Amino acid sequence: MLSLDSLIAILADGEFHSGVELGESQSVSRTAIWKSLQKLQELGIPVETVKGKGYRIPGGINLLRPAELETALPPDVRSGIDQLTVLTSTDSTNAWLLQQAQEHGIGRCRVCMAEYQSAGRGRRGRNWISPFGQNIYLSIGYTLDAGFAALEGLSLAVGVMVVEALAPYRIPGLQLKWPNDIWVGGRKLGGVLIELSGEQSGPCHVIIGLGLNVFMERGEGAAIEQAWTTLSEETDVPIERNQLAARLVEALVRGMALFEREGFALFRERWQQLDALRDRVVTLSGVQGKEGICRGIGRFGHLLLETPSGIEEIAAGEVSLRPS
Ligand code: BTN
Repeated sequence: MLSLDSLIAILADGEFHSGVELGESQSVSRTAIWKSLQKLQELGIPVETVKGKGYRIPGGINLLRPAELETALPPDVRSGIDQLTVLTSTDSTNAWLLQQAQEHGIGRCRVCMAEYQSAGRGRRGRNWISPFGQNIYLSIGYTLDAGFAALEGLSLAVGVMVVEALAPYRIPGLQLKWPNDIWVGGRKLGGVLIELSGEQSGPCHVIIGLGLNVFMERGEGAAIEQAWTTLSEETDVPIERNQLAARLVEALVRGMALFEREGFALFRERWQQLDALRDRVVTLSGVQGKEGICRGIGRFGHLLLETPSGIEEIAAGEVSLRPS
């Protein structure tokens, strides 16, 4: 039986592999290989076919490998994670973890990553474009006793954790855009989506979802309706996805432990230093035409917007810069 995963693993090197070689290595017929190659196309993986040479994925794919990921995690971080799963394909890693939480429980902390999301979720009901093997789609689920109130400011704190994790890539102009976009020079590098289930004031599950653009090419992200960038466009430091993913997991697990102890207060000052909108004029979407000047964030991560009627605290929503 040919597994899709093993076919992808062979072709990930970017070299040509003949139908005969693939068939023999997997002990299946060429028809079975051909059918599997069709499935790769369905996942959006570009497979090139050249007569006499065979099949290849141009440029190859830097696949996520659970063993490499786990080795790259410091032992104390690894031991705090009940399970780490890498899926070849899923609808959404957030949805997957929420379902696991409801059906079997997720222990105290569970990590899920995927190479491809068919229905990646963005904030405000938007779709998160998730081409195969190009970016990071990472969710971390926690079971908590404290209830939702203790999570105020978490999505902003996660932004700070992600920025710290990216420090080795020395990205000039890496900032945060309220509430939780990771931004470089006005272009979106990544986003955070927190989803909750369970009791308002009792045991609950929190799923922290992070999407980070890494190698995605312009054509693959053509459907994104705002300016965006990728890590590979913003850094000269070589990127290896397993190392990058391990860094992000480490930063989030360590950061979450701090957040649980100290709350958002510990992250607020750093967030303000990274604030891309500080003192800039913005328009608040949803509330018709409301404009104001951003004056940082409050104790719980609310946006402080200076308007003619004074400083208003905005708890949720989206802001866009007024074109200058
Ligand atoms: C945003 O709109 O800025 C938030 C995007 C969050 C995307 C990530 S990708 C991993 C996780 N799974 C999802 O379906 N969404 C989040």
